[in-house]
Amino acid sequence: MFTTSSDVNYMLQFQEMKILLIGILILWKFCSVSKVPGVQDMQNKTPETTADTIDFAKQVQPIMVSNCSPCHFPGGKMYSRLPFDKDTTIINHSPGILKRIKNKEQNSLLQNFILQNKNGLRKEGHEK
Ligand code: HEC
Repeated sequence: MFTTSSDVNYMLQFQEMKILLIGILILWKFCSVSKVPGVQDMQNKTPETTADTIDFAKQVQPIMVSNCSPCHFPGGKMYSRLPFDKDTTIINHSPGILKRIKNKEQNSLLQNFILQNKNGLRKEGHEK
């Protein structure tokens, strides 16, 4: 008799645990369903401004080409002094360059690229 009643108690506790767990699962589902689209929305809107993922060749250089060619690119008169196909030029001359890129999105992408490199990713020692 004694054993049976404690078994029943145990079963009851187990049932309560199950209900609690199911409740937690439902809440968790609910939360993740309502949050995930928001996060994805944000990522879809600004993939290029994520500070540590800006790629010079793919994202920065096209901006420089569209604004500053031909002069700062091969064959241009400023290519020997300020070549804009080199990431170090962009980083080392950032104030003058940011001043000249008026488009807000392009400017903030450049700022993030410069920040990202000032935070320690700068390539070592090439460029005068
Ligand atoms: C029509 C040719 C031409 C184009 C296009 C051009 N530049 Fe220049 N750039 C020059 C010349 C010439 C100089 C050197 C004379 C001077 O300092 O103004 C120069 C100098 C500079 C300098 C160094 C002097 C300073 O004021 O800081 C920077 C930085 C610069 N350019 C950035 C840019 C950027 C950024 C773009 C694109 C938005 C651009 N340039 C487009 C010809 C050009």
